[in-house]
Amino acid sequence: MNLHRTGSAIALVFVALGSPLLAQSQDPAARAAATEAAMTDEERVVITNGVMPLPFLPGVKVPEGAVPGAGFVPGIPRLGIPNLTETDASLGVSYVMGLRGPEGATALPSGTAMGSTWNVELMRRGGAMIGSEARAKGFNVLLAGGVNLMRDPRNGRTFEYLGEDPLHSGLLGGAAIAGIQSNHIISTVKHFALNGQETARNFVNSKITDANARESDLLAFKIAIERGQPGSVMCAYNRVNDAQACGNDYLLNQVLKRDWGYKGFVMSDWGAVHGLDFALKGLDQQSGAQLDPKVFFGKDLLEAAARDPAYRERMRDMNRRILYAIYAANLDKHPVSPGGAIDRKANADIAEEVARQGIVLLRNRGNALPLAATVKRIAVIGGYADTGVLSGAGSSQVHGDGGAAATVSLGGTGPFAALISEQYHRSTPPLDAIKARARDAKVTFRTGAYITDAVASASKADVAIVFANQWQTEGLDQPDLSLPRGQDALIAAVAAANPNTIVVLQTGSAVAMPWLEQTAAVVEAWYPGVRGGEAIAAVLFGETNPSGRLPITFPASIADLPRPKLDGSDTIEPDFQGRAGAELGLEADYDIEGSDLGYRWNARTGRKALFPFGHGLSYTSFESSGLKVAGMKASFTVTNTGQREGATVAQLYMVATPGGPQQRLAGFRKVSLKPGESRKVALEIEPRIVAEWENGGWSIAGGEYRFALGDDAENLGQPVTVKLPARRWAK
Ligand code: GLC
Repeated sequence: MNLHRTGSAIALVFVALGSPLLAQSQDPAARAAATEAAMTDEERVVITNGVMPLPFLPGVKVPEGAVPGAGFVPGIPRLGIPNLTETDASLGVSYVMGLRGPEGATALPSGTAMGSTWNVELMRRGGAMIGSEARAKGFNVLLAGGVNLMRDPRNGRTFEYLGEDPLHSGLLGGAAIAGIQSNHIISTVKHFALNGQETARNFVNSKITDANARESDLLAFKIAIERGQPGSVMCAYNRVNDAQACGNDYLLNQVLKRDWGYKGFVMSDWGAVHGLDFALKGLDQQSGAQLDPKVFFGKDLLEAAARDPAYRERMRDMNRRILYAIYAANLDKHPVSPGGAIDRKANADIAEEVARQGIVLLRNRGNALPLAATVKRIAVIGGYADTGVLSGAGSSQVHGDGGAAATVSLGGTGPFAALISEQYHRSTPPLDAIKARARDAKVTFRTGAYITDAVASASKADVAIVFANQWQTEGLDQPDLSLPRGQDALIAAVAAANPNTIVVLQTGSAVAMPWLEQTAAVVEAWYPGVRGGEAIAAVLFGETNPSGRLPITFPASIADLPRPKLDGSDTIEPDFQGRAGAELGLEADYDIEGSDLGYRWNARTGRKALFPFGHGLSYTSFESSGLKVAGMKASFTVTNTGQREGATVAQLYMVATPGGPQQRLAGFRKVSLKPGESRKVALEIEPRIVAEWENGGWSIAGGEYRFALGDDAENLGQPVTVKLPARRWAK
């Protein structure tokens, strides 16, 4: 007699009779255990794998109930388990080359723009908005929550992520996840972990010690998981210390499940599962299984479970974890279906607020900005500013209704040539938004394709505004930080012709600026989303006082990076899927910088940035004073010492430990102030920023520590010293 079947039958009776225990229990773990106990073995390999329900994929019949999107996992109606309908991603419900869903979605600005807001509450609102659109389109899983740290600014997915600092990324990412899940849908947090480049992404081997990982990338995930409680963690394509991230016992079983006590489930990235044994290493669900060599987590898992108790226990735990996430988000009680109502205007308003708060004023010589509405002649040049605003490509690509305003083909003949292109959102084009604010001006536009033409236009204008773009896509890294297609030369020539030249950058990441000293002002607008044109013009004309602060260091030179040569960039042809690498044994040695990436690396090595982490100018001025630190609490006062309202980001840095100088962001707060207004700010210092990870736990050595307030990572106020007692803990 098969005890498991009998057990299931009895448990089923309980479920069917609505046992008092079950009926009363809202505890997702108890519900998950009861439902799993009622499953037959055949049912235990249903929700452990899913497909990519896209009609064009070979061998895929779009299953009943699937919504065209990233993934579909069939539910089990007998047990009230809903289908999982999955889509991307962090910047809005993705449209991915027009293959998902009949209509568009609201495009938030890029992750770098969101990271530049340093506004935790706004991140939650943005997440709530895209989560509501996912629900309205019939999706109950949003594959969002990208919190990988920006270890290399050339990483082609930098535009999807939030920044280079674990506290900043963890708090902002966690808020976005919480916002998404407030719609009774599951969000992921991804890509777990140390997924730092696209070149040979399926095999590049991220080498890093446990301590260095725990104090950087893993800390970002830990904080995001604490704050956001994501139902699922998506493991990454790359290797970590020789083992694939989705089959990595250290990452999944030891860190995530044992040390962190994570109760949800680990889903694979699409095409990231190399074998059935990944189940034993901690993977719970095989996503997009048709992209893998085979469906491991189906019949193969069932057969392994029949002969091996380790697989049997894993199979049951996999189901309990997926069910835990389903019940924690109440997916079964709040079923989704396509065709829900969407308030496009309200949603676009949120996207615009993110854009306005995410735009960073990098340079403003002689207060060239804001522009006066009475300016007479404006030459607008380049960047498709007459068309729309730039967006990033790959799985996170979002389209508004009607699709892109313009797409620039990548060329080539491979499968991705038709699917990946440089796309411009249908925002009000920046040119039109500028014209609307400078009604008395003669505003001209030149594409910038011909430098002499652009120079001729600029030399006849009071102000020249050059839009310069760096497009990024999943699957490709940048070879360097230059602006592509001769834009650096264009800017230099225009600035030579007109000293009142303003550069508006739409980039996914940090870029070099060889022309910087010749310009009057530089505005970093990132990929500003569906209302990007309005947001850019609002900042240029002073309707919005810029409050963005850099979430990533703009290095003075690539030579200043821990790995000046991007790993594999000289040996591997870009192929979007990053398949190369296995036989090449490609390694990324993250222990060069360890947990000191970005501004921390510059502080440790005495380097100065082109523009430092946390940098951003304003149309007013601020002062911070009265810093006091007692234990893990800090307080200080911020004052708006200028003539107009504005917001700033108070940044508290640890700058020294008993072991010597060490800079780490220890807390931050965005503060809006009227002219002359002062505000007292109290901050809790994150102890894991002060601590070191050693011998399997966090340790704060007793002794003197120094903290300082900063306008950015390099411009710090007078430090204060505080004695901290020795302390050790596990979590
Ligand atoms: C991708 C990405 C991941 C995305 C998934 C589904 O290749 O790495 O971020 O969620 O596939 O589209």
